[in-house]
Amino acid sequence: MLAEAIERKLVDCDELILYDADTAKAEHLKSALKFPATVVNSLDEMLHRKPKVIVEAASQQAAKDYIGRIVAKKIELIVLSSGALLDSDVDLSRVHVPSGAIGGLDALSSAALAGIDEVMLTSRKNPRAFDMNNKEPKVMYEGSAEEAARLFPREMNVAATLALTVKPAKVRVQVISDPAVQRNTHEVQVKWRFGEMLLRFANEPHPENPRTSALAAWSTIRLLQELLEE
Ligand SMILES: NC(=O)c1ccc[n+]([C@@H]2O[C@H](COP(=O)([O-])OP(=O)(O)OC[C@H]3O[C@@H](n4cnc5c(N)ncnc54)[C@H](O)[C@@H]3O)[C@@H](O)[C@H]2O)c1
Repeated sequence: MLAEAIERKLVDCDELILYDADTAKAEHLKSALKFPATVVNSLDEMLHRKPKVIVEAASQQAAKDYIGRIVAKKIELIVLSSGALLDSDVDLSRVHVPSGAIGGLDALSSAALAGIDEVMLTSRKNPRAFDMNNKEPKVMYEGSAEEAARLFPREMNVAATLALTVKPAKVRVQVISDPAVQRNTHEVQVKWRFGEMLLRFANEPHPENPRTSALAAWSTIRLLQELLEE
């Protein structure tokens, strides 16, 4: 979706550099594009080409392994595997996290400055998303955002992104496998010093990747647009 948005000139970009540990995947994407794209075989090769922005969409481990080397080169980095940042001691001033499958993070980070008493995230997905077949709602997880992001590294970036936004407040998380929902729904309830918030998102899955929401891809496109226009 990101490459397609670049091809459609939604973002101001003149060349795409693709790196995937599985080179065949990067080659496959390149061959599907009419836009100028180069496949590289390592992160070093990518850094050598001095891109303005790098988008990590690999895994929490890849993000942890690469962040330090990317920010040391003063390259802006968009991290999708936001769980990787929860225990990071790297300077995050050039690291950007898209709002992903939720939004309203501006309000949450504003409230965090004043003081947040309570943040509760309730995520409901169809049992399909968990390879389950339960006929009644089933709580899959209840606990902290940090642990949710660790246990569901591909499905619960929302929890990690929220935790990073409301720091030092803690986020309580409930993940429910619910046959009544077709869309991925995320509800964020906040009690803070000067009020309350209730944010609710009911997201269609990404057309090519049912584990994630289309909104997550579009939020990355929007962030990339912003960084490339600077
Ligand atoms: N923040 C969000 O809203 C959001 C949304 C979607 C996905 N994600 C996260 O983004 C990441 C990618 O998700 P996906 O569904 O596209 O995964 P995917 O498994 O479909 O694709 C990941 C690709 O990265 C490659 N890769 C893995 N490790 C690598 C490494 N060390 N170096 C280079 N390439 C490597 C793999 O070969 C694979 O092609 C996951 O961590 C996922 O949780 C975050």
